[in-house]
Amino acid sequence: MGQKVVIGITGGIAAYKTMSLIRLFKKNGYEVRVTATRNALQFVTPLTIETLSQNKLYTDMFDPNRTMEVEHISMAEWADALVVAPATANILGKFAHGIADDALSTLFLALECPVFIAPAMNNNMFGNPVVQQNIKTLQERGCRILSPNEGFLACGTTGSGRMQEPEEIFATVDEFLSSDHSLQGKKMLITAGPTYEPIDPVRFIGNHSSGLMGFCLAEAAARKGAVVSLVTGPSHYTAHHRNIRRLDVKTAAEMYQQCMQLVDDQDIIIMSAAVADYTPAHVAPEKIKKDFAQLSVELVKTKDILASVGKIKRDNQLLIGFALETENEVENAKKKLHTKNADLIVLNSLRTAGAGFRTATNQVTIFSKDGREFASDLKSKQEIAEEILQTALLYIK
Ligand code: CTP
Repeated sequence: MGQKVVIGITGGIAAYKTMSLIRLFKKNGYEVRVTATRNALQFVTPLTIETLSQNKLYTDMFDPNRTMEVEHISMAEWADALVVAPATANILGKFAHGIADDALSTLFLALECPVFIAPAMNNNMFGNPVVQQNIKTLQERGCRILSPNEGFLACGTTGSGRMQEPEEIFATVDEFLSSDHSLQGKKMLITAGPTYEPIDPVRFIGNHSSGLMGFCLAEAAARKGAVVSLVTGPSHYTAHHRNIRRLDVKTAAEMYQQCMQLVDDQDIIIMSAAVADYTPAHVAPEKIKKDFAQLSVELVKTKDILASVGKIKRDNQLLIGFALETENEVENAKKKLHTKNADLIVLNSLRTAGAGFRTATNQVTIFSKDGREFASDLKSKQEIAEEILQTALLYIK
């Protein structure tokens, strides 16, 4: 059974972003119940909330159709955390002063679990001493305030008052609730995505890697407490954790350089990038015109980053590679494990439906240097990332 969160929505424009927050919790296996104030429902509809949370919305304490349960008490007992997003100046005032005149403020008084509050309002309101005092009071009583970001506000001004992005809120709550700090203090280098090898100023040789597997690994590792350097080729994914430092590169040569600079300092290195094996020998300075009946591009080999790291790694560093295969999968993967001197190799077979590039799912078999095999089912890449890290944990020195 997943962890359980109650999301409290109050009446601010950022309420529309809370819909993504509900989805993030659901997607990551949480059970979600929502309570919204009357004003919140000016911005978002009960239908949207109930569809996304797959639970009945709790908004009216005196709903004639309610069950005989005392909802705010049963919800308070059920919850592992309350996340109030967005939190208006009004709800901060009520929470700070014990006013219980609706479902959310009454629930708040009955709770014993951790409370996370993500304020969102106009910058002058947020800076108002009364609001600041209420925030301080709540903090002193143990509430965790997810301080608003600076930026453009819906009222047209710029300043501090933007609700934290759903991904930031989720990451904080999720990290807090996950008691798994198994990678605390470990330094990790993860490569992700494709590389783009330029032919001329407008063209490149690339591949279908989206980067998702590497980003999932980075997030899962960061949630377990690792400090992650994520060296990624072009990818539209974003990394949502303050423990992740993203380093963008384009070509195999840039990825090689970036990794070599970082490698000495790492405890665990995972190379999930789909690095080009060949790159054009010469990059045309101008766009190549279609003046030729046939055209060849001369390619030269790139440096193998995994193998290079394998050559210099210390005994106390764990090196994990990937093998993407379309034939003789197991044999090829085991060969790569040895030739590249990795400790573990993660085999992806493009023959498996739903595995490999541009899918949300993957299915892998992990081979270890000491001859063991760990096979996974077809699962989301988030779950596969978990499995890879669980296996890595068996081998950390
Ligand atoms: N790799 C790398 N640098 C390269 C090529 C690959 O670090 N220039 C890494 C990948 O990140 C992956 C592993 O090597 O962890 C295996 O990649 P894969 O494409 O399966 O194999 P290759 O070594 O490229 O061999 P081949 O394409 O011949 O199967």
